[in-house]
Amino acid sequence: MEAKEYLEKYIEDKNQLENAYIRLKSGEPVQYIVGNVDFYNYNFIVNKNVLIPRFETEELVSYTILFANKYFNNPIIIDVGTGSGCIAITLKKEIISRVYATDISKEAIEVAMKNAKRNNAEIEFINCNLFDKFNGKVDILISNPPYISHDDKEIMDIVKNNEPHLALYADNNGLYYYEEILKKASRILNRKSLIAFEIGYKQKDEVKKIALKYFPNSHIITKKDMEKKDRFIFIFNNCE
Ligand SMILES: C[S@@+](CC[C@H](N)C(=O)[O-])C[C@H]1O[C@@H](n2cnc3c(N)ncnc32)[C@H](O)[C@@H]1O
Repeated sequence: MEAKEYLEKYIEDKNQLENAYIRLKSGEPVQYIVGNVDFYNYNFIVNKNVLIPRFETEELVSYTILFANKYFNNPIIIDVGTGSGCIAITLKKEIISRVYATDISKEAIEVAMKNAKRNNAEIEFINCNLFDKFNGKVDILISNPPYISHDDKEIMDIVKNNEPHLALYADNNGLYYYEEILKKASRILNRKSLIAFEIGYKQKDEVKKIALKYFPNSHIITKKDMEKKDRFIFIFNNCE
């Protein structure tokens, strides 16, 4: 759908629509102007404090639902870097599960909490670095962490100029969060577990290498997104 059409679909008031056209012209994403976005079968509030949920992330969620149903019963799940809460909330709606979600941004957690209420999903939110304040054990750790390298030239202006940099960029060529999460994950994972990541499309080999460093006996599979780009990595531990 064209951006203008999108605004017209969601904004009825004439004055608000005029204002929306101005914001659109100034380069703001339609989703922030309208204030919400559809993701999977659900609708999520979005504002400048959270990343706009992407189609690829719907695919991450779909694969994770498939694997959760195949390998686990009523899994305990943690979504690290939840942003709008789209991953955690969708998983809670689609799988009988207990779901935790963390984010370092207090403002993001506030949005995610509103979205959980809006979608009638019971999630335990934790405002912390990665999962530092989580002391339980989980079956599934899922994350779409920031993964764009600081010197990335492909990032579009509309993304760079509007979405929170805390949600986009990562040190070490975009690999910092994969290493941090994988380094610390064994503390909170059950023996049988799954780690599900969205990754930058050039990061497959390097993330796989980091995963094998911390989980040498894991079974790893990668999947491509709809555009046939390497986009997801699943690290299975003792899932026979
Ligand atoms: C790429 S966004 C993903 C948001 C959402 N999960 C999604 O898929 O649309 C990454 C999220 O990680 C959060 N984040 C960044 N650094 C973090 C950290 N050290 N600990 C926890 N969350 C962090 C950001 O605030 C942001 O919400």
